Amino acid sequence: MTSHSPYATDLSDTRLPPPGCPAHQDACHITGDDLRHDPAAFYEARRRAYGGVVPVVLDGVFAWLVLGYAELKEVTQRGETFTRDSRYWRPREGSVPEGWPLEPHTVWRPNAVFAGGEEHTRLRGALTRALGKVKAQRVRRSAVETGHRLIDTFVGAGRTDLLARYALPLPLLTLMRLFGFPPAAEAPLQRAIAALLACGDDAPAAARQVMDIVTGQVRRRREEPAGDLTTWLIQEHDAMSPGMSRDAVDTEIREQIWLTINAGHGATAVWIANAIEQLVSRRDVQAGMWAGWMDVQGALRATLWERTPLQNVIGRWATRDVVVGGRHIQAGDMLVLGLAGANTDPCHGSASDRADFATYNEAFFSWGNGPHQCPVPDLAQAIARAAVECLWDRIPDVHLTDPGRPVEWEPGIMMRCPRALPVSFDPAQPHAATRRRAPTGGC
Ligand code: HEM
Repeated sequence: MTSHSPYATDLSDTRLPPPGCPAHQDACHITGDDLRHDPAAFYEARRRAYGGVVPVVLDGVFAWLVLGYAELKEVTQRGETFTRDSRYWRPREGSVPEGWPLEPHTVWRPNAVFAGGEEHTRLRGALTRALGKVKAQRVRRSAVETGHRLIDTFVGAGRTDLLARYALPLPLLTLMRLFGFPPAAEAPLQRAIAALLACGDDAPAAARQVMDIVTGQVRRRREEPAGDLTTWLIQEHDAMSPGMSRDAVDTEIREQIWLTINAGHGATAVWIANAIEQLVSRRDVQAGMWAGWMDVQGALRATLWERTPLQNVIGRWATRDVVVGGRHIQAGDMLVLGLAGANTDPCHGSASDRADFATYNEAFFSWGNGPHQCPVPDLAQAIARAAVECLWDRIPDVHLTDPGRPVEWEPGIMMRCPRALPVSFDPAQPHAATRRRAPTGGC
């Protein structure tokens, strides 16, 4: 991949370090496998050795991993110095190796995530106004109905993989309903997004298929508006773009839908999976739920402290030479937001201090921070809470199939996600309909 900074002419090559520069030589090499077993210990060891800003080589590419709480706050709040616009990138290697697995996180797209300044305000504004029209009650109802539908497919068997059969499909199906996609689009979109996330050879074809489905939905709602997110996005974009052609406006709308599904589905699915992992594998959490001193909301919040779904985020790019955390960052360098590392920064006290306040304190970085902070934590929380409550309400005896065998984690630098959640429960229990009708506010 080549770099494509809009300010390439301002950054003379003489300011780039020669190969083998000190930052490169001292850098800590990280692969997805390093973070599989005990990421908190890994981050702590790097913070002790390097400080809050760590020079890293991620699967062969140089970046700065920002692990310190104060340093991450500074980087995420100085939007002009640390932009989200990846076209500023000047890889120190000169170019990025062919097939670099993290490349999809760096490829600029014309949407709010990669925009800065007024353009970001414009695109994010339309998105948040449209999303703001979605009533929390409707999100909850939709997520609960989807939860029941999924549970019905495995409840009679007494065992399942809750990652594949529940946590992964639930947020996508819920978001599709909020956007008003027709039921016939569900299966193809699910398959295409799974292929896209797997980054295999069929990923480019899958990306085209996702866009085709989204294009069809925008066309449908142009002809037949309804009370759904697609219609509200069309209305917001039409209202704020009087001079733009219909084609240009529809292109922006398609990008916004793509971004919302892409950003929302994976992170929410993994959040649900990580919270369920705690519920099915930790006796203290189960005991807390039964005794009533912990509830699903608290368990979800504690999960964001200890096992945040997006453990690292790519990224920010320095628009000028700057010093942060004592490190000389050069214009064009890539920075990785170490959300999980900053959440476990000892500035919050020890792990046991954190455990004391984790269920009610929200000073974590799990939603990011600054202008690009996640715009819809309430929406994500409504889906995740409905999903976990629904499961807990219907199958309270759910437990790991092999409690002696700890859950395995996917290798990966960005997401902290279990490989599978094999669980069992007594299929003879009245798990379903009677509970479903109970007026608990849960299911
Ligand atoms: C329905 C669910 C969700 C939707 C629709 C959604 C949507 C978005 C969007 C549109 C952005 C880009 C904002 C911008 O650049 O201005 C974003 C950013 C972000 N989201 Fe979410 N999100 C969802 C769930 C989550 C969850 C569950 C997490 C993790 C707990 C999360 C963490 C983040 C983070 C860390 C960023 C900031 C990235 C950065 O600073 O570069 N999101 N989200």
